Amino acid sequence: MSDNQKLRVSKIHNGTVIDHIAGGQALNVLAILGIDGTDGEPLSIVMNVPSDRLGTKDIVKIEGRELSEAEVDVLSLIAPAATINIIRDYDVVEKHRVSRPETVVGVLECPNQHCITTENEPIESRFEVLDEGVRCVYCDTIIREDLAAHILAG
Ligand code: CTP
Ligand code: ZN
Repeated sequence: MSDNQKLRVSKIHNGTVIDHIAGGQALNVLAILGIDGTDGEPLSIVMNVPSDRLGTKDIVKIEGRELSEAEVDVLSLIAPAATINIIRDYDVVEKHRVSRPETVVGVLECPNQHCITTENEPIESRFEVLDEGVRCVYCDTIIREDLAAHILAG
C-alpha cells in the first residue's frame, strides 16, 4: 500500500503515537492510561485497520503530550505488542516497545469485595504482574483474564 492509502488520520506535530495495539483494544488502552478526552487535547483513534504483524491493529495519537515509559508500561498488560513513538516537530524522535512492569499501582480494581483496597480505606490497589495474570498484594486474588474489565475509573 502507498503511504497515502495507509494514512487514515494526519500525522501529529508533537506528542505520542501508540501503534501496534491489537485490533479492538484502543479504548481499553486509553482507559488504562486514564485518558478520556475531557481535558480537550486532540486525540486520534484508529481501530481495526489491517496490519501485517497483528492481522488488525489499533493506533492512538495523543497530541501535545509525551507519555513516559513508566506511564505506558501498564498498557503492556492489554497491548503487549504496542510501540510507543514520541513525536517532536513531526519527526519520530523515540520509538520503543512497552515492557511488562513488575507491579501496577492504582490502575486496576481488586475483584475481592473484602479486599482492604476496595473498602473505604485510602489504600491504592497494588498488583504484582505474573506470567499468568496479576496478583493483588493485599489479598492474593489473581486476575487471569480480561484485565480491561478491572480498570479503575479515572
Ligand atoms: N506518526 C504520526 N505523526 C508523525 C510521525 C509519525 O502520527 N509526525 C505515526 C505514523 O503514522 C505511524 C507511527 O507514528 O503510525 C510510527 O511512525 P513511523 O516510525 O514513521 O512508521 P513505521 O516505520 O511504519 O513504524 P514501525 O516500524 O514501528 O511500524
Ligand atoms: Zn485484593
